[in-house]
Amino acid sequence: MPTNPPLNRKLRMALVGGGRGSFIGRVHATAAVLDNRCELVAGALSSDPQRAKDSAEDYDIDPDRACTSYHELIEKELALPADQRIDFLSIATPNHTHFEIAKAAVEAGFNVVCDKPLTFDLAQAEELVKVVNDSGVVFAVTHNYTGYPLIRQARQMVADGELGEIMAVRANYIQGWLTDKLEDDDQKQAAWRTDPKKSGAAGCFGDIATHAYNLTRFVTGLLAENISCNLKTFVQGRKLDDYGHAMITYENGAFGTITASQISHGRENDVTLEVDGTKGSISWRQENPNELWLRRNGQPHQLYTRDPNASYAKPVTAESCRLPAGHPEAFFEAFANIYRSAFDNMAARIAGQNFEKVDTIYPNVFDGVEGMLFIQQSVNSSQNGGQWLPLKHELARR
Ligand SMILES: NC(=O)c1ccc[n+]([C@@H]2O[C@H](COP(=O)([O-])OP(=O)(O)OC[C@H]3O[C@@H](n4cnc5c(N)ncnc54)[C@H](O)[C@@H]3O)[C@@H](O)[C@H]2O)c1
Repeated sequence: MPTNPPLNRKLRMALVGGGRGSFIGRVHATAAVLDNRCELVAGALSSDPQRAKDSAEDYDIDPDRACTSYHELIEKELALPADQRIDFLSIATPNHTHFEIAKAAVEAGFNVVCDKPLTFDLAQAEELVKVVNDSGVVFAVTHNYTGYPLIRQARQMVADGELGEIMAVRANYIQGWLTDKLEDDDQKQAAWRTDPKKSGAAGCFGDIATHAYNLTRFVTGLLAENISCNLKTFVQGRKLDDYGHAMITYENGAFGTITASQISHGRENDVTLEVDGTKGSISWRQENPNELWLRRNGQPHQLYTRDPNASYAKPVTAESCRLPAGHPEAFFEAFANIYRSAFDNMAARIAGQNFEKVDTIYPNVFDGVEGMLFIQQSVNSSQNGGQWLPLKHELARR
């Protein structure tokens, strides 16, 4: 099959962030090229100009297209002939920079893949939606857990009524890496995540509870109504929360809970999702992502594996797999599934075809807004003793 039909060429990518010593930029660069549908041709890889230049060779980016800022990057790309210019820009920088970079890229007409949380605060996210709507670009947000084949399977099982009416959903994201005050040692990832000027209003809740919340929305499709939250900072002197839990009520009367921790000894990236329906319940764990359990009272527990050829595999599940069952797929492949789905729309847009903007299989700018509302209301609720607050946004997808 040709690459990116109807374009029949690779898409050209720029990366912002991802310089030496950073984390998720390298994941973006790897996931984006996994299906041979794009090439990384330009970058503004670091906030440090020299490191931005030096890091370019790690990605085989031509020195001419290794920029010291996103401004320079966008300016240079716009000056290139259209058949050399980037098609999209990926943002893998700390939270406080997402808005300005995304806005500039969208206004320049480039498609965007932005990491979460979408912006620094809700106002920025709402502003960004307007800019995206005006431009018509493809805008994906890497809530990458939604890219797991069995998460997409779970979503389709809920949509097909296999669990009945959804009564409850529980999602946890449990880590332990911030049990020590790493920010005092200037550990790069810890330093900005615990700094309210860079991370945003929440620490742990902005960083990882947003993923858990997004996962509940993605799989159940339930619209949240209200939230009550308690956040706590257990490590003395830390400026933002490192633990928290939230209760959520949904429009259909369902209950939800989210717990997120960065201070649980020995815990790595333990994202779990459990959904209770009137006909059955499911559970999934990202540290063992190729298994999904379905349980019904009085019946043997059923283990769904990531098997694209299984009779129970939904079309979306099969399409989200690259390997036969039993060969473990994991974080990179799930991340690549976000890219893969966004590429379909980018190719359509560039070819002048219509494409879906709201109800996309990949998380988009509207999901980003919901994530920012979740963070804002979690913090507001917690500051008011767990007061119940509205969690409904007019832009939330139905
Ligand atoms: N989706 C996920 O699973 C996931 C995982 C980790 C991080 N993230 C998100 O990705 C983002 C980056 O996190 P990280 O852990 O990789 O951070 P990091 O500190 O490891 O890396 C950030 C990189 O961005 C660069 N940078 C900062 N400001 C810049 C600017 N203005 N222009 C160009 N480069 C700039 C830094 O120099 C560094 O190279 C955050 O928003 C975070 O929430 C998402």
